[in-house]
Amino acid sequence: VPVSRIRNFSIIAHIDHGKSTLADRLLQETGTVADRDMKDQFLDSMELERERGITIKLQAARMSYRAADGQDYVLNLIDTPGHVDFSYEVSRSLAACEGALLVVDASQGVEAQTLANVYLALEHDLEIIPVLNKIDLPGAEPDRVIQEIEEVVGLDCSNAIFASAKTGVGVPEILAAIVQQVPPPADTVQDPLRALIFDSYYDLYRGVVVYFRVMDGSLRKGDRVKLMASGKEYELDELGVLSPTQVQVEELHAGEVGYFAAAIKAVTDARVGDTITQVKQPAAEPLPGYVEAKPMVFCGMFPTDADQFPDLRDALERLKLNDAALQFEPETSSAMGFGFRCGFLGLLHMEIVQERLEREYDLDLIITAPSVIYRVTTIKGEVVMIDNPSALPDPQQREKIEEPYVRVEMITPEEFVGTLMELGQSRRGEFRDMKYLTPGRTTLIYELPLAEVVTDFFDQMKSRSRGYASMEYQLIEYRENTLVKLDILINGDPVDSLAAIVHRDKAYYTGRALVSKLKELIPRHQFKIPLQAAIGTKVIASESIPALRKDVLAKCYGGDISRKRKLLEKQKAGKKRMKSVGRVDVPQEAFMAVLRLK
Ligand code: GTP
Repeated sequence: VPVSRIRNFSIIAHIDHGKSTLADRLLQETGTVADRDMKDQFLDSMELERERGITIKLQAARMSYRAADGQDYVLNLIDTPGHVDFSYEVSRSLAACEGALLVVDASQGVEAQTLANVYLALEHDLEIIPVLNKIDLPGAEPDRVIQEIEEVVGLDCSNAIFASAKTGVGVPEILAAIVQQVPPPADTVQDPLRALIFDSYYDLYRGVVVYFRVMDGSLRKGDRVKLMASGKEYELDELGVLSPTQVQVEELHAGEVGYFAAAIKAVTDARVGDTITQVKQPAAEPLPGYVEAKPMVFCGMFPTDADQFPDLRDALERLKLNDAALQFEPETSSAMGFGFRCGFLGLLHMEIVQERLEREYDLDLIITAPSVIYRVTTIKGEVVMIDNPSALPDPQQREKIEEPYVRVEMITPEEFVGTLMELGQSRRGEFRDMKYLTPGRTTLIYELPLAEVVTDFFDQMKSRSRGYASMEYQLIEYRENTLVKLDILINGDPVDSLAAIVHRDKAYYTGRALVSKLKELIPRHQFKIPLQAAIGTKVIASESIPALRKDVLAKCYGGDISRKRKLLEKQKAGKKRMKSVGRVDVPQEAFMAVLRLK
């Protein structure tokens, strides 16, 4: 097809507002996927995603569509992940499009994530088509939501489409609007090749499969191409389109979306955002906007059973083939033995990796509390980045410590403003702004240390607002603070994996709370276990876990039935994840205790 009949678009939506359902509808309506092949939510193909009902990896689909003018168009839908951890990937897939559907649940309204992505789309000059979804619901108020979109985003909604991805109402109108309103790609087929990578995944047989949009020029099967950021060269073994399953083609031109395979060994060699060009006739400049996604959140991962260390290493290496943002390096902890210090884009990314390690690789892990990267200037003037609290240089060696700050935007019904402001304050937040979006709905802006956000901020926000508030954050800068290292001693020994970096003003409180939480979480032993929190050599809080007494047990458990129960409980406890720290068995939850302080 000529470039004038190509449309490239993505869908912007808050979680659960119906993006996947609508994408499925578009595939069905255009006959791209026959009804009998239609698995629910074709685009979300990973099992984990399906279970959690969220889109993690983005993919693409090519549809053929005959418009009212009788012409056949090619519509490329580029999916975007719906979570803040992956906002760089969102920005790259938006950069591959000329337009976007803004899908908002008509019974809810604009949410923080939607806003963040709309701003990204506007930055890329995309044509935005507002879609009010779920109008079949009795609680739908499309007119109120339109007002909200106009107010907040400043977007003209006179062309908004009322739709239901569930019943199919409005779907033909959406397809027509994509053809009419989204501009065709620029016709730059004569220029040297530049193609933008917006996704890639590792395939055991073909190596990395790269998803890309041709921005300028063209490429053919067999061409030698160069990835401009990584500097590597490859020969295209396979070239194709996604309709939505992979179908091979000989050639792709400016404006088109496709995939290639070229025996690339790991996704780190073909990163999202990199530019593909021809070796023979290379482009002068890469496409703008490439950055290497950097981990922001770190934690330690240790096998409960030391024998599993090589398995853990193999599993991480395999996950890494498919996840350019995952980082890991060996870590030796005096308390925990051999493990890895791992870096992630954010908390969700961390949880996904943990879950896959446990589920797909059958590993039993002890995971330490998440930490951020601190920037420490030593008295000698050296700057070191510290991703592990136990590695913080001693106070005498430090000139200053800086920590990353984020700008958090929360959108909430008015009645929760008070409790959310309390939350912001209690997390060392600085209030920046508050605006009414529409009567009854408010946006709150805070600047907060990232360390306070990567703990349980999101859960707190959700529970305080009974699930109604949404949030979004963005890294802004490093700021200096008076931070100290809080050590935890169990049975007299400092446990490096429990060390935390906290603000001095909160150190006493945190130390006390942590020690009493540990007292709850660590089971009794045959001996008394002292627990202490210390800053340097100064103990700031202490507790102890009393020893088990045999006669107490004898009183509680007598007779056959209770003996059986005791046996059962013992078996259950055996399954609980424990790590022996010195002579003390410490359960997994204890290492996360710092996240669960009141
Ligand atoms: P993520 O993948 O988590 O980003 O969510 P999503 O935006 O893709 O939402 P999804 O399509 O999974 O829809 C969320 C829920 O809303 C599902 O239970 C859908 O069945 C339901 N849903 C989607 N569209 C409609 C609609 O038009 N009407 C009604 N009543 N329900 C809908």
